[in-house]
Amino acid sequence: MTRQGATTRDGTNAPPAAGSASASRVHEAFRHLGYGPAPEGDRTAREWLEEGERVFGHYVGGSWIDGAGDIRPTHCPADGRLLAGFRDGTGDDVDRAVSAAADALASWQEIGGHARARHLYRLARQLQKRSRLFAVVESLDNGKPVRESRDLDIPLAIRHFYHHAGWAQLAPSEFPGYEPLGVVGQIIPWNFPLLMLAWKVAPALAAGCTVVLKPAEYTPLSALLFAEVAHEAGLPPGVLNVVTGGGATGAAVVRHPETRKIAFTGSTEVGREIRRVTAGTGKHLSLELGGKSPFVVFDSADLDAAVEGVVDGVWFNQGQVCCAGSRLLVQESVEAEMLDRLRARMETIRVGHPLDKAIDMGAIVDRVQMERVEGYLEAGRADGAEIWQPDRPLPKDGLFLPPTLCTGAPPSSTIVTEEIFGPVLVSLTFRTPAEAVALANDTRYGLAASIWTEDMSLALDVAPGIKAGTVWVNCTNMFDAASGFGGYRESGFGREGGREGMWEYLKPVPPARGGRAASVPGPASADAAPAADDGVDRTRKLWIGGKQTRPDGGYSLPVVDTAGAVYAEAPRGNRKDVRNAVEAAAKARTSWAGQSGHLRAQILYYLAENLAVRQEEFAHQLRRATGADAQSARGEVDVAVQSLFTFAAWADKHDGSVHSTPFRNVTFAMNEPVGTVGIRCGDHAPLAGVIGPVAAALSQGNVVALVVPERFPIPALDLVQVMETSDVPPGTVNMLSGIHGEVVPTLASHDDVDQLWDFVADDLSGDSERLSAGNLKRVWVDREGAVDWLEPTGRDTAMLLRKATRVKNIWVPYGV
Ligand code: NAI
Ligand code: MG
Repeated sequence: MTRQGATTRDGTNAPPAAGSASASRVHEAFRHLGYGPAPEGDRTAREWLEEGERVFGHYVGGSWIDGAGDIRPTHCPADGRLLAGFRDGTGDDVDRAVSAAADALASWQEIGGHARARHLYRLARQLQKRSRLFAVVESLDNGKPVRESRDLDIPLAIRHFYHHAGWAQLAPSEFPGYEPLGVVGQIIPWNFPLLMLAWKVAPALAAGCTVVLKPAEYTPLSALLFAEVAHEAGLPPGVLNVVTGGGATGAAVVRHPETRKIAFTGSTEVGREIRRVTAGTGKHLSLELGGKSPFVVFDSADLDAAVEGVVDGVWFNQGQVCCAGSRLLVQESVEAEMLDRLRARMETIRVGHPLDKAIDMGAIVDRVQMERVEGYLEAGRADGAEIWQPDRPLPKDGLFLPPTLCTGAPPSSTIVTEEIFGPVLVSLTFRTPAEAVALANDTRYGLAASIWTEDMSLALDVAPGIKAGTVWVNCTNMFDAASGFGGYRESGFGREGGREGMWEYLKPVPPARGGRAASVPGPASADAAPAADDGVDRTRKLWIGGKQTRPDGGYSLPVVDTAGAVYAEAPRGNRKDVRNAVEAAAKARTSWAGQSGHLRAQILYYLAENLAVRQEEFAHQLRRATGADAQSARGEVDVAVQSLFTFAAWADKHDGSVHSTPFRNVTFAMNEPVGTVGIRCGDHAPLAGVIGPVAAALSQGNVVALVVPERFPIPALDLVQVMETSDVPPGTVNMLSGIHGEVVPTLASHDDVDQLWDFVADDLSGDSERLSAGNLKRVWVDREGAVDWLEPTGRDTAMLLRKATRVKNIWVPYGV
């Protein structure tokens, strides 16, 4: 930052003075220590933009094409100046881009990890050489202070390419049994245009995917410049394609049948729409959406540091940050002191032209966004909030908003609950740490949180309790390519950065063993099936909250053997039963998640022990159901026992890690349970395919609402007796049977289910994906048949463990 002694506080340069008058002026100037303008030169950028005359096409297959779409303008929001024109991508343009990406796929994969690493490394080098131009272009197009684009956006984008050059090199050895997803569609927002490009393009290329990227309509320029740089750097044609345009262009990328994965960052509303549109298509999806991240200040905090933290937390990038610390939660005893100091600090924040290196806040990206923010402030006022802004003049032209503090808003007010995406901080108070955690989690989002206290044991006690993908202790808005970033809940799913992020662009190579269908035991002749039950009529029930329960509707379904004879009945669960099961799971969730891995392992071992002693009985039921021969039925029971042992073993071994981030801090990556997992089991392995996922989920601290196999429900229903004798806590596992079409949709749409696993993969799975859009739960439909329940491999186990957890990264800086 440039501090100029010879300027006055209002920013006008004082003329040089002479003699004793000069001495007093210098003295005077030092007393005020104001800032003068320190404009960054934009000549190179102006030349690149041909002084606003340039019209960009799309970058497709290594060439620039115009397409038939309209020309749209992009402006600098600080002064309204026209920067350039760009094309609105049509469906045809998207089609050409996807074809180019598909054509490039085979050779991009054949050149191998090392060659891809060289390409990514070269991209990083070339970006670095042009970093000044990128910073200026970014600030002009978006309105962000050049100090931020120069010191944060661009260096971090470069870092992502370097980091992922490493993953390209390591991918073959670090991700054995996985292959690239194929052509990926990537849609990015306007708040960090080049950085979001880097977060998406770098891991995709490292994994061996090819890309069609759609930048945001307010800020297409840095992506177009990047395409030029990539072209000059010799990136093979078609590996990266950039199609510009608005929402309709993005929608065309999402809908294109050949994009195998969609990676999206933007509003929760559009994320939800993309979830619905991709449902049932088999496309992979990662969503990085909005947030209303808590910024928690305890009375034990260094308040001056916390005030600086707030400045970085919510006024960085004019507050247009998905993880902005926009909800200040301050302990009641220090509220007055904190807000006094904060207001005093806000008085010194300088709002001005983004190319002025001496300003703190630039312009809002577009009038639409500015009006949206102003609308929230109006609503806040109407709700009775006090809206405070420092009394400093804003630049006259351009889209500027001052830093804003809202106090006294009722907790239900939209300014407290909704993402504002502007320079607006809402302040609330709490009394105890428990109340702080409850308030922090009182949101549908879960992207990030910031905790301020000098009491480290308090910080580390509170951090795991906050539902967010990233928790910063005594710091905020720290990012690095080595640490995954992404959300919980309606902030989306998937991670960007680090090993965590690489998984988003890989899929398991389908098992060479012939896939699941081939190993479903074929119907045997009737006389090969074992004899009927031993004569005593057994009424099987649902198992909910640790109790055997009659189905709410009072109906049962006949279960037939391979000869078509009815040999048992299964309860026909309905929506009410599903809701009861989810409720019972929710009650058990916190205490099960809080158990040690050691204890969870003990219970899984106990289950294994009790199942093993009943091997003959379960083998009998398997034979009865599927007609399997005696040996394979016994074998399946044995596999089920083994998987209980496997996941018992992993209960205390699926460790987190400490990331190598380049700051003076420790970044812990903790594997946390996802919460309530809805599991839909298939008929392929009616016992091992039930025990396997349940054991995986339980081992990592999740609770389960299970839908047992539809055609062969009996072995799973009989597990109730094993569970009851194995100390499985009530509600930890809940079992439902019935017609899948009658129960699964309720599970998929339930807001208190955090994740859904579907091992059937049929049309109903697509419906589930669509229904999951409500709370944006993670959905895993194993369409590739990746997990072989009858012969599980180490890869299958690792995949289940990954699905059973989500990573929270906790940043703890050190130093005195
Ligand atoms: P948006 O979600 O509409 O735009 C993000 C990107 O998605 C842009 O590239 C846009 O062209 C594209 N898009 C829009 N509709 C699409 C569709 N149906 N299918 C595919 N792509 C589509 O965000 P917008 O309208 O710019 O901002 C609205 C609000 O969204 C903001 O006020 C803020 O609250 C939130 N937002 C959050 C971001 C984040 O990083 N979490 C980034 C940008 C906006
Ligand atoms: Mg612009």
